[in-house]
Amino acid sequence: MAQINEHYRKLQAGYLFPEIARRVGAFREAHPGADLIRLGIGDVTLPLAPAVVEAIRRAAAEMGTPEGMRGYPPEQGAEDFLIAAIREHDYAARGVPVDPSEIFVSDGSKQDSANIQEIFGPRCRIAVTDPVYPVYVDSNVMAGRAGPATAEGYYEGVIYLPATEKNGFMPPPPEEHADLVYLCSPNNPTGAVATRQNLEAWVDWARRADAVIVFDAAYDAFIRDPSLPRSIYEIDGARSCAIEMRSFSKRAGFTGVRCAYTVVPRDLTGSTSTGERVPLRELWARRHATKFNGVPYVVQRAAEAVFDPEGRKQTAAQVDYYMENARILREGLAGAGFTLFGGEHAPYIWMRTPEGRSSWETFDLLLERAQVVGTPGSGFGPSGEGYIRLSAFGDRDRVAEAVERITRAGF
Ligand code: MLT
Repeated sequence: MAQINEHYRKLQAGYLFPEIARRVGAFREAHPGADLIRLGIGDVTLPLAPAVVEAIRRAAAEMGTPEGMRGYPPEQGAEDFLIAAIREHDYAARGVPVDPSEIFVSDGSKQDSANIQEIFGPRCRIAVTDPVYPVYVDSNVMAGRAGPATAEGYYEGVIYLPATEKNGFMPPPPEEHADLVYLCSPNNPTGAVATRQNLEAWVDWARRADAVIVFDAAYDAFIRDPSLPRSIYEIDGARSCAIEMRSFSKRAGFTGVRCAYTVVPRDLTGSTSTGERVPLRELWARRHATKFNGVPYVVQRAAEAVFDPEGRKQTAAQVDYYMENARILREGLAGAGFTLFGGEHAPYIWMRTPEGRSSWETFDLLLERAQVVGTPGSGFGPSGEGYIRLSAFGDRDRVAEAVERITRAGF
């Protein structure tokens, strides 16, 4: 008898975005002519940058020749071009030294943030900000690091750090001990961004607590203020307590192309049950080599093109476009009387639901009255209740129309 992993049965409902798609599908069936505006899942809408398309063409053509044909790519990534470009542009340019051996190219930060927990022991205590990108919690539930969920939606054994209006959606480190903490800045879903002081407090805490920070910087390209940290390694001491993840998905429209990377510094260690210190990089390298065959050459060349001068200009223009959408949403909806957060250094607007309605109630009302799809804040954790997340990744005209429709519908 093949016994199942019963930890899966603790998971609440389905994964958030398929659940939204199911509800939207039901609405469409009931209203076949409805003209929906989708500001739900944070999926890009602009076409790939020309520099990226050209790089894909060139790489595909190269592989169509006997000399240019390639088999399995190096599983950690192409050190001679992509890893070199990441090092130079994402780190050295901001004064952050990262060794090529510390960069692991992958097919997405969603996978990396779900998989990273595998290199930690089953009894590690995890801490998350609440609301949170659901993958961090669900992957730990699947691995057995949590008990059943309470009626309010908290998994037993997980430390939740409420991100609220009062703390600017940037909770301070916990007072109780945690071994592994997930931070995301700019934040999905609240759109808040960590300051240098915020990150210094976290790094200081992690070093004292001998904890590891998993820092998800998938949205770093949306930071407008150059004095804000883009990498946790801009903070002294972070190399000995943090793993960082970055993605090409949002910064360069790669949600359908798939490329990201994770940095595991050589200075970062974990401990065995007998107290021996082991470099986490070795464990992640071992996992990567066993479970992953590398990102396709064509995709790595596409990612490399994001860093060339034309690619940088073109992808920066895409980010500017989405951030202008964010401004339109923010200012338009604030003008209509809504209370909103985020959207200044992140492509997400975190909107308080009107009249104390629940997140799902507001989701349904938005759908029915304005045919606009948002994401219910409660889907990101109990402290997300009372909020709706709106994504700025839409088409400009449709974003402006969404503001008009929501304003007209009058909530
Ligand atoms: C979101 O909408 O939260 C993101 O698109 C999900 C993801 O990046 O996996």
